[in-house]
Amino acid sequence: MLQTQESPAKLSHAGENEKTHSMLQQVKVVTVIGSGTMGNGICHVFAQHGFQVHMMDIKQDALDKAIGTISKNMDRQVAKNTLSEDAKKESLARITTYTDMAEAVKEADLVVEAATENIDLKVKIFQDLDKLSPERTILATNTSSISITRIGSHTKRPGKVIGMHFMNPVPVMRLVEIINGYATDHETTQLVHDLSAYLGKVPCVVADYPGFISNRILMPLINEAILAFQEGVAGVEEIDTIMKLGMAHPMGPLQLADFIGLDTCYSIMNVLHMGFGNQKYAPATLLANMVQAGYLGVKSGEGFYKYTPGSKELIVSTRFDTKKWK
Ligand code: CAA
Repeated sequence: MLQTQESPAKLSHAGENEKTHSMLQQVKVVTVIGSGTMGNGICHVFAQHGFQVHMMDIKQDALDKAIGTISKNMDRQVAKNTLSEDAKKESLARITTYTDMAEAVKEADLVVEAATENIDLKVKIFQDLDKLSPERTILATNTSSISITRIGSHTKRPGKVIGMHFMNPVPVMRLVEIINGYATDHETTQLVHDLSAYLGKVPCVVADYPGFISNRILMPLINEAILAFQEGVAGVEEIDTIMKLGMAHPMGPLQLADFIGLDTCYSIMNVLHMGFGNQKYAPATLLANMVQAGYLGVKSGEGFYKYTPGSKELIVSTRFDTKKWK
């Protein structure tokens, strides 16, 4: 992982692309809306790479918790010598918290929205961002499936609206999926592309179709694993072990579903189902039931597995722990 402490203003050096330099000079203040898992991870990487970060959430408690999480995650990097203690302190000092959106965005060059995956909420946030941020500000969303074109159409600057889709855990995962809305300007895409590379990530630009690329492929895989489990083809452990050991996935699909959040998986499947109008994307009934009942995975303490704070042990939920072959 990059251990950049210098300001983006110092980016340019011999041989560096002048155009990239001048574009990156435009971005000094990055506002992140939402301080949950994705929001705090996004703040972490921007702050680590020298940007002034304004982290905004509606509750101060959530912001305080997010600062604690970023500090702990930076400690992992300090322990591995990929970040110095001083760089950690400087990075944390670059993050300011806000509960007032107008204050948080008034100097923003870029906003990255990472609020809950709900279209009405995102539309409202983008309408507010459009009113409250300077005209030059690029408005990016970390949505995992909602149409960028639709979000942009609710603003007066659709050319400056773009998808900037980070992966969880943000400080670790190298990908940024960049989604061009129908009306997104080329300059916006180029800037977000170059910024992502500056953060040490690998940007991939895709078009605005349901689920983009990442979730159009990942979510049907997860949903298929749930369907196979629901039909009794194999148990939770067997399904995950087959995919981990047989296909070298770092997590099995059911564990990954718990990690992402079953509510998020369900909402993305619904976007695919409605967006393509194809039955093959219908969410598994078990997934729908678990979400309705509040079994959301890691965030609620139980999904396909049961989670105990502080423990890394993977224990299948007692609802699902009978061996299918016994
Ligand atoms: N911040 C900083 N470092 C972190 C971290 C964080 N939040 N989380 C983990 N790490 C580091 C650890 O310190 C550790 O570093 P070293 O190996 O150098 O010691 C490394 O990452 C691995 O972590 P762990 O040892 O704790 O655990 P692990 O080996 O089981 O790996 C994992 C954890 C990286 C999450 C791995 O299991 C993995 O890659 N899982 C799949 C993740 C994935 O698919 N993410 C995408 C989800 S989809 C999405 O996000 C988008 C969407 O739209 C739904």
